[in-house]
Amino acid sequence: MTPLVDSFGRVHDNLRVSVTDRCNIRCFYCMPETGVQFVNRAEILDFEEIERFVRIAVSLGTTKLRVTGGEPLVRRDLPVLIRRLAAIPGIRDLALTTNGVLLPELAGPLYDAGLRRVNVHLDTLDQERFLRITRRDDLGRVLAGIEAARRLGYRIKLNAVAVKDLLEPDIVPLARYARENGIEARFIEFMPLDAQNLWDRSKVLTADQILATLSREVAPLVPVPDPDPRAPASEYEYADGGGRVGFIASVSKPFCMNCNRFRLTADGKLRYCLFAIHEDDVKTLMRAGGSDEEIAALIRRNVAGKWEGHEISSAKFVAPPRPMYSIGG
Ligand code: 5AD
Ligand code: SF4
Repeated sequence: MTPLVDSFGRVHDNLRVSVTDRCNIRCFYCMPETGVQFVNRAEILDFEEIERFVRIAVSLGTTKLRVTGGEPLVRRDLPVLIRRLAAIPGIRDLALTTNGVLLPELAGPLYDAGLRRVNVHLDTLDQERFLRITRRDDLGRVLAGIEAARRLGYRIKLNAVAVKDLLEPDIVPLARYARENGIEARFIEFMPLDAQNLWDRSKVLTADQILATLSREVAPLVPVPDPDPRAPASEYEYADGGGRVGFIASVSKPFCMNCNRFRLTADGKLRYCLFAIHEDDVKTLMRAGGSDEEIAALIRRNVAGKWEGHEISSAKFVAPPRPMYSIGG
């Protein structure tokens, strides 16, 4: 089998599948506060369609799978889907990105279904700031969810979105909390994917700035000795053995040339980049009776047409028409 490769020689073995565009909170860097237009339920792929797509992707060399949203835990019966995906031979790494609000109830059922790895977004440990960022008062549930996941033995990462003049007071508390709980904290530079077009370059808190703060105020950090060249995060570890911290410097240091990722949206569109303008319609092909070979050919064509990178920092950059929640993080 020839690997799934684009015109720049990048091999694609990492698939992210969004299972819903809905969410139970309203983080400002992703969603508007009110009036969100969600996709009609009939337009969302069902579990058979998702599983079929993943099997075909695996036949093309996919080994890593991440389930995203919107908020994936609001999708009804998610553990049933996770069990089916975890059972696909060839998936070597299955992970899920969640806001954690429903983790107190679902960490157990998802673990039983075969999930072992979660990324939880958490921007602050302060209740008032949590409310301001997410417009919901759910910090207690998220912390209880992380604790439940920790007790079950999940590998956990925390994702904080690095917005300038906002995240600064939370950097050190988040890093300390993660360190004390055996969790990796990750800081993701604010990207132009918000529904209200609030983004501009001056609102990005850069990875270098956060690294300097943590090294000074928590403990010295050094780059990990054997980094995975395909991973989007630059990984550091505390020199005192206190674990790892990751930085996703998508804006200040784009890593597009190492990208191995492609995406399926909840409404069945194939995207070769978070910021892609072009998408291919897998759902219509599936529902019209397309064969596995035809779907595989569409995946190959989509990836083959992948652009070099997002060019966020160039004047040419055009934000994608879909915000984060409708693409899948
Ligand atoms: N910029 C950067 N990261 C974002 N996320 C959501 N919106 C943005 C944005 N505009 C993050 C969330 C989540 C992941 C899927 O993407 O924190 O962890
Ligand atoms: Fe790849 Fe697009 Fe992410 Fe760049 S922005 S690393 S091209 S998915």
